[in-house]
Amino acid sequence: MSDRQELRARLEALLAEARASGEYEALRPLLESALAEPQSERRDDSKIPMSYGMVGDSKPMRDVAALLDKVVQSDVPVLVLGETGTGKELVARALHQYGLRKGKPFLAENCAAVPADLLESELFGHKKGSFTGAYIDRPGHFVAADKGTVFLDEIGDMPSPMQPKLLRVLQEGEVRPVGSNKVIKVDVRIVAATNKDLRAMCKAGTFREDLYFRLAVLTVQLPPLRDRKGDVRHLVRFFLDLMEKEMGRRCTITPEALELLDRWRWPGNVRELENEIRRTVALSDGTIKPSDLSPQIRALA
Ligand SMILES: Nc1ncnc2c1ncn2[C@@H]1O[C@H](COP(=O)(O)OP(=O)(O)OP(=O)(O)O)[C@@H](O)[C@H]1O
Ligand SMILES: [Mg+2]
Repeated sequence: MSDRQELRARLEALLAEARASGEYEALRPLLESALAEPQSERRDDSKIPMSYGMVGDSKPMRDVAALLDKVVQSDVPVLVLGETGTGKELVARALHQYGLRKGKPFLAENCAAVPADLLESELFGHKKGSFTGAYIDRPGHFVAADKGTVFLDEIGDMPSPMQPKLLRVLQEGEVRPVGSNKVIKVDVRIVAATNKDLRAMCKAGTFREDLYFRLAVLTVQLPPLRDRKGDVRHLVRFFLDLMEKEMGRRCTITPEALELLDRWRWPGNVRELENEIRRTVALSDGTIKPSDLSPQIRALA
């Protein structure tokens, strides 16, 4: 039993005694205020609203969930758009996890993080001896993820020479490994994501329009956190629970600190909020107060 639970049990016993002795009315206000949970420690155990592993109950997030309801059981390519940290990868994983290909491989590639020639071999595979260091035949993601999903993150950074090769996967369902003259049939769902304006890139000639239309058969646009009215407090509770699991520290937050978090514009979106909670939980004495928040958020007070 925690200290607080013990105190509560003793106060409840006193209250019962007071009732029995006729002193109840005189003691009632004192005992009841002592029994009330302090604001900052009140645990709201009502369920955190969540769909497809995404916390949120705001109108734009309910619209996202409704769209996922429609597309999750289909096999069409999906393009996930949104600012940094809005949950694009979470959506890609949800499409796989809740869809027809659940249980099959999910392979992700960050097109911005890998040099162009390596990216080709990562995605399409290579034949032994096709370049220095290619000691064995290696299947690429499209072959390895057979019957599953390939997630192409930062698709706006896919180098131009790779784009027609990707188009071929989407159009013909086949790949040709580097150094091979044989094509291999593949069965993968493609989910791509970017925070770039692909339409503008098409106009500027840096992204192939035919590829864009193939990838964007269906588009999921994730709203920035500042447009998800009411979701910050649900996310805060979710991340406090998560940090308790991660760090073994249960923290609460004062209503004043929560209000500041609610008012901040979150340019880094949910990731920024997650990091803010992680940092404050690590440093706080158990109750997150306005003074524990980052200076730019504290400055809103
Ligand atoms: N609605 C949500 N509920 C709970 N956690 C979320 C939600 N959205 C995002 N997250 C968490 O926020 C972090 C960032 O999400 P994610 O990596 O999916 O964003 P992203 O849009 O891919 O970001 P980037 O553009 O920087 O790659 C992750 O830890 C993710 O689990
Ligand atoms: Mg991402």
